[in-house]
Amino acid sequence: MKNVEIFKIENGYINKKIDPGINVIEEIQSLRKEKNAVILAHYYQESEIQDIADFVGDSLDLSRKAATTDADIIVFSGVHFMAETAKILSPQKKVLIPDLMAGCSLADSCPAEEFSAFKEQHPDHMVVSYVNTTAEIKAMTDIVCTSTNAYHIINSLPEDQKIIFAPDRNLGNYINSITGRNMVVWQGACHVHEEFSLERILELKKENKEAKIIAHPECEKPVQLVADHIGSTSSLLKYTQENDANTFIVATESGILHQMKLASPHKHFIAAPPKDSTCACNDCKYMKLISLNKIYNTLKYEQPEILMEEKLMKKAEVSIRRMLEISDKLGI
Ligand code: 13P
Ligand code: SF4
Repeated sequence: MKNVEIFKIENGYINKKIDPGINVIEEIQSLRKEKNAVILAHYYQESEIQDIADFVGDSLDLSRKAATTDADIIVFSGVHFMAETAKILSPQKKVLIPDLMAGCSLADSCPAEEFSAFKEQHPDHMVVSYVNTTAEIKAMTDIVCTSTNAYHIINSLPEDQKIIFAPDRNLGNYINSITGRNMVVWQGACHVHEEFSLERILELKKENKEAKIIAHPECEKPVQLVADHIGSTSSLLKYTQENDANTFIVATESGILHQMKLASPHKHFIAAPPKDSTCACNDCKYMKLISLNKIYNTLKYEQPEILMEEKLMKKAEVSIRRMLEISDKLGI
């Protein structure tokens, strides 16, 4: 393998000016081939990134791809916990993230030390954690889940099994309501999904009477209650393809609208508006830190790289593998 130049990472990424004469997309394509690299992108990425990615998907799909790819390098176009999950599942591969500052407010809302103390207060409980957590939390978890398989994973456990669900309170409460369980729910939340305005969604519905309201389970309960369908990003996408309606009011991060439009070009998609009309709060500021230029520099200089202690990775791997095994068994 050729040696690559080492650049200092500033503010989380390689801030190296790109020659304006080059075509960044073409360069990414040739670097990808030359280095046997794969670009995995979450549905919340910018459209132009989704268009050049080898694979676009939700967090469950992406973890499966990360576990099975035969590429030497994974460039993760998404947020830090997703890249960490990829590294844990493919420790022998080089996993790169174009911007280390691409975090997650939900993962941040569950600090390891506080969670460890919380767990100690519930010694007879099993821990099921949403994938939007740090590796430290996954290492304290029995089974990881995503919004696609959370319901099935919880349902696969004995009815009398006591459970701590972390970190998203809206997803946890939603699963409690549809399964009749009484899980102890960690009070974490996502800054994007808790910002949707019920009032403004209802105004839109009044103007578009035939529209279906669809929402991610990370949204607050009032938004969930008016939704015609609640589901993960891939479930929302599927619903827009299969439902006869022509208009959809979409209460999740706006990046998913790109795949919805590609899949159903004749249909109309309206991004649900946030409470604060002066900001684009339905954009995840962390997801949107990733750009084509940063992907190019990351592929070229093979930095920033996701690295973790082996002991931590091994511990966290157990709970992620359990999720993949249960999902495979249940055909999800
Ligand atoms: P999905 O599990 O639907 O991919 O969602 C991930 C996420 O970050 C939601 O905000
Ligand atoms: Fe995290 Fe919310 Fe961004 Fe998803 S949308 S990555 S939960 S901050």
